[in-house]
Amino acid sequence: MNVADSEVVMSILSENGFEHTKDIKEAGLILLNTCSIRENAEQRIRGRLKAIGHLKKKDSSILIGLIGCMAERLKERVLDEEHLVDMVAGPDAYRSLPSLIGEAGSGHKAINVLLSREETYADISPVRMDKNGITSFVSIMRGCNNMCSYCVVPYVRGAERSRDPGSILREVEDLRTKGYREVTLLGQNVDSYRWNADGQTTTFPYLLERVALTDPLIRIRFSTSHPKDMSDELLRKMSEHPNICKHIHLPAQSGSSRILNLMNREYTREWYMDRISAIRSIIPGCSVSTDIITGFCTETEEDHMETLSLMEWAGYDFAYMFKYSERPGTRAARKYDDDVPEETKTRRLNEIISLQNKLSSRSKKQDVGRIFEVLIEDFSKRSKDHLSGRTSQNKVVVFPGNGSRKGEYVNVKIESSTSATLLGKII
Ligand code: 5AD
Ligand code: SF4
Repeated sequence: MNVADSEVVMSILSENGFEHTKDIKEAGLILLNTCSIRENAEQRIRGRLKAIGHLKKKDSSILIGLIGCMAERLKERVLDEEHLVDMVAGPDAYRSLPSLIGEAGSGHKAINVLLSREETYADISPVRMDKNGITSFVSIMRGCNNMCSYCVVPYVRGAERSRDPGSILREVEDLRTKGYREVTLLGQNVDSYRWNADGQTTTFPYLLERVALTDPLIRIRFSTSHPKDMSDELLRKMSEHPNICKHIHLPAQSGSSRILNLMNREYTREWYMDRISAIRSIIPGCSVSTDIITGFCTETEEDHMETLSLMEWAGYDFAYMFKYSERPGTRAARKYDDDVPEETKTRRLNEIISLQNKLSSRSKKQDVGRIFEVLIEDFSKRSKDHLSGRTSQNKVVVFPGNGSRKGEYVNVKIESSTSATLLGKII
């Protein structure tokens, strides 16, 4: 999400005569794009601000801006608390950055944190910041209307709004002509994508299909699905189109229906399991990943065991795992006590991580001996003799080059696996 936002910001600024530099020492303007989902994300930004303080001490004309979710959450307080910051812009205020920069340049602290019901930056053609020129993100909606009780996103990114499908398809076409081979459609809850025009409603499965039909050589991924909304129709579209990747990120958050209810996730453990079963039966061979929050308010040892057993049952290929971090202003912060002790959160997180390590390694071992179509993304990090790419199931594969180039599809036979990677050879 943040990469996609930075690309929009780069586009707005380059239209206004700014140039991007990779060397921070050359910069006259430094913008930090921020996240506020967990407290440690905000702490990292505060640390980063301190680290760039010395640049401003050397040259006081350098302007520093804080943009994105943390800017939206803290608003004017950023300017009081962080004296280095000259300007603040929330996620719906990027179009005003050139004027905020002008204001800050003339010595006045500048701020715009207005949220919008309409802004999708649909007409802005993002300046790509990815490194490989093969894989890219396309934002299809902004904001979120779900009120998960732990989550700050609806407050800092505003109400959900979908982007015009025509502009999405044009962006994908533009990427195609530039040589990109993989597009990830992004939204907080892609299943609730909806666009009404001329008496017709475009839903997510239909949008996904239209994007898939632009070119069979372009791979399509998407994130994030919400278990309460993920439909069989979506799964059928995925199974019908070979270029829609066979991987679903389906955040469970917890395996306990009682905790899911407190989290206001609007599904139960059984409902979630039914969605996983639907994936398994409609798209055999599909990989599944998840997000888990451990130590949410009132979580007991029993709830925690239910999370572990759900993970085991689902056999996730991959998971992002977090300790619950109370976010000011959310429903959980207002209504519930953050009462699971820190040591318990840490211990439960470690148990979850070690189970997931086992599941991830099992999932990779099962791939040994199989042949996968891999889209080559780059050289491997370790050696220019090896290439790196991903399977449709989103697993990273490293293999000897054999004269192939990035952007090509090759069939790779998997010979072994490490903790994060499959190793194989082109056949
Ligand atoms: N504490 C911990 N993790 C959180 N997430 C969102 N809010 C919080 C929070 N307050 C996690 C969820 C979500 C992912 C993007 O971040 O698992 O799916
Ligand atoms: Fe946050 Fe829930 Fe929306 Fe995801 S669906 S962004 S967790 S409120």
